Amino acid sequence: MAFRAGLILGAAQNILFQAEIGPPMTQDIFGQETSLSSAGTRKSWDAAQLGVLAHSASTAEHLGAVLAAAPGFVLGQAIKGLSLLMLGRSELLPMAREALKDAKANYDSALPREQRYVDALEAWLHGRPSRSIQIMERVLTDFPTDTLAMKLSHGIRFIMGDPKGMRESIERVMPAYAPEHAGRGYLLGCYSFALEETGSYEKAEVTGRQALWMAPDDAWGLHSVAHVHEMTGNAKQGLDWLEGREEAWDHCNNFRYHVWWHKALMHLDLGQADKALVLYDTEVRKDKTDDYRDISNATSLLMRLELNGHAVGNRWEELSELCANRTEDGSLIFADLHYLLALAGRDRKAEARRLVTRIHEDAKTRNNEAQERMASPGCHAANGLEAFGDGDYTLAFAHLTRARKDMQLAGGSHAQRDVFERMTIDAGLRAGEFDAAEAILDDRRAKRAGGEDNYALARRELIAAGRSGTDSQSMPAE
Ligand SMILES: [Fe+2]
Repeated sequence: MAFRAGLILGAAQNILFQAEIGPPMTQDIFGQETSLSSAGTRKSWDAAQLGVLAHSASTAEHLGAVLAAAPGFVLGQAIKGLSLLMLGRSELLPMAREALKDAKANYDSALPREQRYVDALEAWLHGRPSRSIQIMERVLTDFPTDTLAMKLSHGIRFIMGDPKGMRESIERVMPAYAPEHAGRGYLLGCYSFALEETGSYEKAEVTGRQALWMAPDDAWGLHSVAHVHEMTGNAKQGLDWLEGREEAWDHCNNFRYHVWWHKALMHLDLGQADKALVLYDTEVRKDKTDDYRDISNATSLLMRLELNGHAVGNRWEELSELCANRTEDGSLIFADLHYLLALAGRDRKAEARRLVTRIHEDAKTRNNEAQERMASPGCHAANGLEAFGDGDYTLAFAHLTRARKDMQLAGGSHAQRDVFERMTIDAGLRAGEFDAAEAILDDRRAKRAGGEDNYALARRELIAAGRSGTDSQSMPAE
C-alpha cells in the first residue's frame, strides 16, 4: 500500500517537475540554450556548472537542487552520471547506470546538445571514455563556447593521459570566446594546464596567472602554475606563488588536498621534509578517505619522502588498510598503481600480490579501455612496484623501464607520475645500473625544459659516487 502511495505521489511530483522543463527559450550562464524554464532552477544549474569548473565543494548541492526541481533535466542527470564515473570507483557504477536510465527516460524531450551528454555517459558506461571525448568534441564543434563540454573533454582526456588532445581541444574553441564570456577564465585555466603538460612552461605560467585574474576561484588554473614551478625545478617560486592564495582553493572539494600536496612536494624538494610531513598530517591527509585522488596524493608523497631517506613513521598503516580493500576495483590503472604503493613491501604482501594478479587478469580480458591500460603500462608497472617493495631492484628496474615508455597512458599529470619515474631511477641506482639511470635522468631533464630539481641533482651525485666506488645503496637524507 505504501508502495502504491509512493507511486502516486511520484507521478504527481513528476507532473509538477515537468513544469520546470520548457521550450528552449532561455540560456545558461555560458550562453547555451537550456531546456530548464524555471529561473530559479537555471540559477542552480549555473551554480552547478561554475562549481564543476572551479572544483567547488558546493557543486553536488547545486546539482542536487537542479535534479530535485527538474528530475527530467537530462543534462543534469548526465552530469551526475559522468561525475560518478570520474570518481573511479566500481561500486558507483550502479548509480551512474541509474542516472543514465533517468536521463534516457526524458531523452526525446531534451535539446540535441543536452542529448549528447547522455550519449557521452552511455559510451563511458560501455567502457569507452575515448568515445565520450569524441562526443564532447562534437558538442564543441557546434557549441564552441559550451564551457562545461570543454571541461569534460579536458577532464576525461586528463584521466586517459592525452595532454596533446587537451591542448588541441582548447585551441580549437578559444577563438569563439568573447573576452566577457563567463567561462573564459576557466578556459584559460584549462589551457594553462594543457600548455604545462605539453611542455610550454612560460606560456602556461602567463596563461594561468591570467586565468586566476579573470576567475579568482579557478583552482585548476592556480594549480597549473604550481605545476610549472614543479616541472622547471623552481620549488621556491612555487611556494611564493601558492603562499597567500589559499582563497583560490579553500572552496574546493578534495581537489584542495591535491593543491596542498603540491605545496608539500615543494617543501620536500627544498629539503624541508618536516614541513612536508606537517602538511601531510594537517592538509593532504586531513580526511582519511579511500578516494583514489586522495590516496594518490598520500602514497606518492610518503614514497617520495622515503626515497629521499626520510622516516614517515606509521603513516603507511592507515593507507594500507584502505588500499587492501581496493584490490578488486579495476576502474583505473592510475588508481591501482597508487593502491599498490601502500601494499607492496609492507605487511600487505598477499593483497599486493592479489592486486598485481588482478591487473594481469584484466589485461588478458581487455573488455574496455580501462583494461587496455591494465595491459600497458599496467602489467610491467605493477610488477615493477611489487619487485621494488620486495627489494629486488634489478627486477624492479627491468619492469619499470619497460612500463616507462607507456606511462603517459596511466593518466594523471607528469608531476603525479613522477613518483614512478623516481622509483625507476632509484631502482636503477640500487641495482647498479648507473648508465641507464643517468639516461632516464637526462630524459627527465629534457622534458622539464632543462630544469633540474634537487631530487635529480642528488641522484647525479649518487651516480658519480657509485662510479667512483662509493656505496650506492644508501639514498640521501636531505
Ligand atoms: Fe596537480
